[in-house]
Amino acid sequence: MTVESEAPAEEPRTVTGAPREAAAVRGVRVRDVRRVYSSRRGPVAALDGMSLEAQPQETVAVVGPSGCGKSTLLELICGLQRPDAGTVASEPAVYMPQRDLLLPWSTALDNAALPLLVRRLSRRQARERARPLFAELGLDGFEMAMPHELSGGMRQRVAFLRTLLAGKPVLALDEPFASLDALTRQQAQAWLDSALRREPRTVVLVTHDVEEAVVLADRVVVMSPRPGRAVAELRVELVRPRRRTDPAVVDLRERALEALG
Ligand SMILES: Nc1ncnc2c1ncn2[C@@H]1O[C@H](COP(=O)(O)OP(=O)(O)OP(=O)(O)O)[C@@H](O)[C@H]1O
Ligand SMILES: [Mg+2]
Repeated sequence: MTVESEAPAEEPRTVTGAPREAAAVRGVRVRDVRRVYSSRRGPVAALDGMSLEAQPQETVAVVGPSGCGKSTLLELICGLQRPDAGTVASEPAVYMPQRDLLLPWSTALDNAALPLLVRRLSRRQARERARPLFAELGLDGFEMAMPHELSGGMRQRVAFLRTLLAGKPVLALDEPFASLDALTRQQAQAWLDSALRREPRTVVLVTHDVEEAVVLADRVVVMSPRPGRAVAELRVELVRPRRRTDPAVVDLRERALEALG
């Protein structure tokens, strides 16, 4: 799968709380970040002392209990929020949110091609660029389907195509398969795995599924309950594609679950 970038090269970006850090970074680097929301019930510290790195073309999975700041972390990496302290530096990153957020009035093809339209390609050029990718993700024949005519797994694949077509070197994926049933989820993991092998990107993959983390990632970072910070890290040095029944996968899954407490 080849997704060319039409966008002018963007400079790596540093979003800084304090103090400021050099802007040049390859991949993703989050250092000692604190992020506090203000709410009616008072301040809520989502992250405190959170650090994480992803090398170029590395897939880092992030697991942690609900509310520990995982979505906050991805939004910081994508520059949608700023840290209150610490530094976040990343090559340009695109966020795939927890819900697929397809436009209900657009076809699957136009939904996937949306970032190309935003980047000022003509509709015809955008469709031509997006169309061949449908076959690669097993979506051929559904280009003109409306989102409500697609299964959950197909919607997620369209949303993923849209994320890829944004042409950014870093993908921030927020529980991309959480809404899928077990079988569809395994299929979705397989296409993500092969898509990333064909089209390597730097990936930060948030998931609450430890097995998914071990099957897909080069490294698994385990976060503490809120305020979230990294409390353990497991390196997954197993050939791909990985089978969830492989004893080495099972062993790493158990170790990650132990670290989660
Ligand atoms: N805009 C906001 N205003 C106030 N509090 C917020 C806001 N966004 C998130 N929070 C709080 O920050 C904490 C972390 O939220 P976040 O969504 O990052 O967690 P999460 O790890 O992604 O959770 P989940 O696994 O349930 O998706 C939560 O306690 C949440 O209530
Ligand atoms: Mg979340």
